Amino acid sequence: MIAPSLLSADFANLGKDIEMINNSDADWLHIDVMDGVFVPNLSFGFPVLDAIKNICKKPLDVHLMIVEPDKFISRFKDAGAYMLNVHYEVCPNLHRTIQRIKAEGMKAAVTLNPHTPVCVLEDIAGDVDMVLLMSVNPGYGGQKFIENTYSKVVQLKEMIVRKGLNTLIQVDGGVNDITAPKLFECGADVLVAGNYVFSSPNPIKTIADLKK
Ligand code: DX5
Ligand code: ZN
Repeated sequence: MIAPSLLSADFANLGKDIEMINNSDADWLHIDVMDGVFVPNLSFGFPVLDAIKNICKKPLDVHLMIVEPDKFISRFKDAGAYMLNVHYEVCPNLHRTIQRIKAEGMKAAVTLNPHTPVCVLEDIAGDVDMVLLMSVNPGYGGQKFIENTYSKVVQLKEMIVRKGLNTLIQVDGGVNDITAPKLFECGADVLVAGNYVFSSPNPIKTIADLKK
């Protein structure tokens, strides 16, 4: 699956870019919410999501780069989130956070930063619908892919198969025509692509090519 990241869209013409996503082969729309505390950047919040949910026909895959995500779980449900993704690094009671997300009727995912090892998922992999492995340090689009991610995808796939789970593996950051085929080969199920899609001359074709 492919989830284009709205972070690289034209914010002065969001309606136009979302129409492009609606008409594309994209599976989900990836939404990056940043708080300026967990990551050194701010992006957008509820007013923007509320506007998007009314026009976007693809499920909203919401990636929270914020501290204390528990405070906002029901607000993200109201804002139209299909998948709610929290970072491992900010959730001291991760199991509880995941149960709360599911209780609101959303799919639940946990994200690992590039420095966080896959082994920390041993006792939570079976409780989440998806694991997101960051292949750049979160906060900005257009960064260089961290090569160590391939081995993390392989390790995670091995864990999922060993446990007999159907947890999805998502990768986010630096996805392009070179990294995407290798990531799918390693066992990734969903790739997020921001800069590569939106800076291309024909984003609809770029999304279709990534899917191929
Ligand atoms: C980075 C975000 C990504 C970002 C990816 O913090 O989580 O979703 O938009 O951008 P690219 O594909 O440009 O690396
Ligand atoms: Zn993201």
